[in-house]
Formats: sequence, C-alpha cells, structure tokens
Amino acid sequence: MGASLPALLRRPAILWSALAAAVAAAVVTVLLVVPGADDGPADGDGDYLDASLPVDERVDDLLGRMTIEEKIGQMTQATVGAVEAAPSDVGEYGIGSLLNGGSEALFDTPEEWAAMIDGYQDEALKSRLGIPLMYGIDAVHGNTAIPGAVVFPHNIGLGAAHDPDLAGRAAAVTAAETRAAGIHWTFAPCVCVARDSRWGRTYESYGEDPGLAFEYAGPVVHGYQGEDLAANTSVLATAKHYVGDGGTDYGSSTTGDYLLDQGVVTLTEEELRSIHLAPFQAAVDAGVGSVMASFSSTDLGEGPLKTHADEYLITDVLKGELGFDGIVVSDWQAVDQVSTDYAEAVRASVNAGIDMVMVPFEYERFISTLLSEVESGGVAEDRIDDAVARILTQKFALGLFEQPFADTAHAAEVGSDEHRDVAREAAAASQTLLRNDGDLLPLTGQESIYVAGSGADSIGRQSGGWTASWQGSTVTPTQGTTILAGIQEVASDAAVTFSEDASEPVEAADVGIVVVAEDPYAEGVGDAGAGEHDLALSEDDAAAVETVCAAVDCIVIVVSGRPVEIAPHLGEPGTPRSVDSLVAAWLPGSEGAGVADPLFGAAPYNGRLPVSWPRQTDDEPLNVGDAEYDPLFAFGFGLVTP
Ligand code: GLC
Repeated sequence: MGASLPALLRRPAILWSALAAAVAAAVVTVLLVVPGADDGPADGDGDYLDASLPVDERVDDLLGRMTIEEKIGQMTQATVGAVEAAPSDVGEYGIGSLLNGGSEALFDTPEEWAAMIDGYQDEALKSRLGIPLMYGIDAVHGNTAIPGAVVFPHNIGLGAAHDPDLAGRAAAVTAAETRAAGIHWTFAPCVCVARDSRWGRTYESYGEDPGLAFEYAGPVVHGYQGEDLAANTSVLATAKHYVGDGGTDYGSSTTGDYLLDQGVVTLTEEELRSIHLAPFQAAVDAGVGSVMASFSSTDLGEGPLKTHADEYLITDVLKGELGFDGIVVSDWQAVDQVSTDYAEAVRASVNAGIDMVMVPFEYERFISTLLSEVESGGVAEDRIDDAVARILTQKFALGLFEQPFADTAHAAEVGSDEHRDVAREAAAASQTLLRNDGDLLPLTGQESIYVAGSGADSIGRQSGGWTASWQGSTVTPTQGTTILAGIQEVASDAAVTFSEDASEPVEAADVGIVVVAEDPYAEGVGDAGAGEHDLALSEDDAAAVETVCAAVDCIVIVVSGRPVEIAPHLGEPGTPRSVDSLVAAWLPGSEGAGVADPLFGAAPYNGRLPVSWPRQTDDEPLNVGDAEYDPLFAFGFGLVTP
C-alpha cells in the first residue's frame, strides 16, 4: 500500500531530503494558520512531532489539534479480521489499535507479521494527523502466533518454580520475539488469583495465594517492557483481568456454557482488596502501561455489577488510589455485556474509566455511538480527553511517532537455542515432585524405560491453550521437543519403548513413565463440568497408569493446567501396583526436555505447589487458610532432589 505525505516524513532520510523543499513550502503555509482542531500535521518544531519535548507536552499539543471524531477513533481497537476488507478504514476512522484474538497463527514468520502490520500502519499514517496505531496480541507464554517461537510454561508452572526473576527473563524473551514481528503490545501478564481449580483459566494464574501474583507482577512487567518501551525488544504489558476474575462463584457465570469464567465475585470489599487487588498495585508500581478490565462482576454486598461498568473500582480505586496512569482496555466485546442497550453499555463503560474499547468487530457502530453520547452530554469530553491522553502517552513511549514501522532486527533470534534454553530452564524449575517412594527418582539413564500416556508425545498438550490458536490443539501447533523426545535424549533410544495406550508388553522394562494429560482449553471452555472438560483422568490415561504400574516401578507425570483427580489412581505408598513417583509438570511449553531434566538428575526437583491439590473435584474451592483444609497435597508442598 502506497504511503501519503505524513508517512513519508517518517521514511528513511533519503525520502525526507528529496521532499524537503516541498515540505518546507507546506510548513510555511501551516505556520501562518492559527493552530486549532482543524490544522494539519505539525511542523515538527515545538509540537507533538518534536521528540525532544517531554511526552506530556507532545500529548497536550496533539490532543489540542484533534477533532472529537479523531479522539474517539483512538479509543477504538478492532480485530484485524474486521478491517482486512477495508484497510483504508484504519486511516479514515483513525483507529487507535488493532489486534488478533487468541494469538492466532496468521503467518509463519516474523517478517510476514511485520509486513502485515506495517501495511495497516501505512493506512494509519494517512490520517490527517498521522497518528500511528498499536498492534496487540496474547503473547501470554511466548509469541505462539509464530510457529517457531519459543513457548514457555504457563503461569501456574512459573508459580510452582517460585522464581519471579526467571519469569521475568521468560517475559523478556517473549517481548523480543513479539516486537521482532512488529507487534507492540501483549495482553499479559494475567495477575489473576485462581481460587477454584475448576476454573478454565487456572493455568494463567501464578497460583491461589495473592502473594505469588504480587511477587511475580513486577519482574514480569519489567521483563515485557524493559528499560525503554521504544526498544525493539520491548512490548507494552497488560496486567489482567481487573479485578477478581479468579474469584468467581461456581455456577455464577451467565456466559454460554461457562460455570465460573466471567461469573460473579461475591466478597466483602476487604476480601476483594486483600486477595485480588494487591497484584495490581505491584503491576502499577512496576509501571505497567495497560490494565485489562475483567468480564466478571463483583458483588460487594449490594448486588452484582459488571466490572467494565464499575466506576468505583476502575476510576476511584485503580486510577485514583493505586495511581494507574496507563490505558484501561476492555476485554473482547466485553462492553456489549454491560447492557442490552448498546448506547447505555458504551456510556457506562467509558464513564466508568474504560479508555480503549476492544470492540472488536463493529467499530463504526462503536465510534458513532460514543460520538452521539458525547454530543448528547452522556459522556463528557474531559473523559474522552483523559482516555486519549493515556493512549497517546503509551504510543509516544513506544516510540511509534519516530519509528512507526517494524524493526525486525531480532527476527533471526525468534526460536533461537539461547531463547529455548531459558524455556527449558523454566520448564525444569516448574517440575513439582509430589511422591517419590524408594527414592526412585532421579533415574540413572541406564534403565530400560517404558513410556505411555497421552501427554508423552504431544507438544500441543504440553503447551496448552493460547498456543497458535485460542484453544490450543492436541496436534503439534508449534516446534519444540516432546517429553518423550526429552527422555530419549538422555536414555539411549534402544532403551526406550513408547506405547501411548500401554498396549505393548511392559514387563521387560526396568521402569515405566506414564505421562497423563489434559487436552488444551482456554477460558470458560475449560471450566470443569461445563462441557468436555473435568478434572478426571481420561479413560485411556487411567488404564495406562493401571497397566504400567501393575507391571513395573512407575512414575506418573501429570501435564495439566491445574490439579486433576489423581487420588483414585495412586494406591497406598509402597504397596504393589501403586504409583511410586508422582510429578506435576503443569503446562511446560515447547521444551519438553525440561521435564526430562530432573527425571535424570540434570536438574533438581524443587517445585512447590502454587495451588492446593484436592482429593476430589467437589472439594473445590480449596485454598490454603481455609477453616477446613484437607488437601491431598497442600499448597507449597514439593519434594526436593539434589
Ligand atoms: C479474551 C480474554 C483476554 C484476551 C482477549 C484478547 O476473551 O479474556 O484475556 O486478552 O480476549 O484475545
């Protein structure tokens, strides 16, 4: 797509010098016109294009030049699928941001991603004031939208590693592999506190104790944003979902088949603050540039209120009390849930403090509706100015006015061995040893090993949701090593027999390893009891455990986003057919070799349970500190090996 004059002003110097005479003439004309909402691009001296000015001065100058339509355009975030048929809408409406939901793998390489985004950036720069757009994605455990990108353990595994600095390093690698593709903004970290393991987003949480999310928020935000948001290895981070998304009541959701996700949090304000608010204070203190509002509702005693329409929580508490000065972005089409009257939904959400609306499809309707609300006085222009100032501030900080187009200098490092080493270290550190009869682990590597289970040879299962697609996939959605490949890497291939359903003879092996697994899911789709997901082992995996552990000493590895119902399969320690060693592997990501490392002593087992492990599903919600607390394995439990 061709570029217009404003865009050319930011192209390489050769174009700038070739155009200097023509632009100089235009600038002289502009200087003679009194600045106001109807003047064109600035002249670069003493105004928003002057990078030597403080950001707040640049924001004030630009805001003063903008029409109300341009301001509302900046508050609009559209999904790329909605504008691909009319790319020029991006410039004509001055759309502030684009995204593609679910980290969908639209392209195979960073360069292809960058070219797509630059095409829309070209359109954005054609707008009257040439305001660049921001592109956002759910790079929540790696930039999994690129098939060769490194996939890190999901947050629950990072929480088990009890190593916030390691999580920060993982975020920094993710940021580099995201910005190298021309993407400016990740909707991460989730600083949710998962209080009921039946929740389909438990794995996006660092655990049930707010202290974990509190400890991780700062290092992870810093990992994503770096020292300079304009660097080609930094992305804007998002603390989400504000507030209490992990504390909803089972059965309170009214969204589709969901039971927990997007439900109602029924707590006193004091409980809400102590359990769910604290991690956001840490994120704000770390300088997080955006916060995503939660789909859920809170009922502090006066009935449920959608968080997206909660002016007290968003404006008074988050922006006022906590001092958050970044962007509050809505969740996906979440404004529509506030009211069946769309105008009322838009008015209530923007007045509550939502600054950017992830519409994400009908952006014209949103723009015209909000414009009508401003014209009728339903929404004050001061509120619009506050929202747009927050958005522009982050765009200036990202360096988009100076460098609106992708810098793919680090594209070759996407999926590099160095990056994979960080993911392998994180996977190993997250391994949590829950039983180890007879000190069976670590193995020596000399044993003949029988491997079974649905999670042994499946990068898709070991990566979980938000991997190359919203729900993830049981088939290989990305590159990396499976747990089986990790085992084969250490033990000689001849010594390893793999039979996923344990139909091959077992007896000849010295030891058996059964890797049981959940199939991937995301959000409410994974709510236990809602649809196809619950906390029980699959029949095939349960049968494989039974077969292998009846024949030889056996190790069960659980690949899951949350505690599963393992008690019925364990047997009493030391009795025949019992499980000798039990490992929670969580969702380790693309580097399955990190799961094998502690198995053979190449790394210690040192993980600690970030969530309580129930004896049975119905014991949920089950959290440390409960008056009646009788878990199978307690929060913080984990055996250690050298
Ligand atoms: C989803 C999720 C949110 C995600 C957003 C964009 O519904 O709730 O975590 O960032 O939409 O994909």
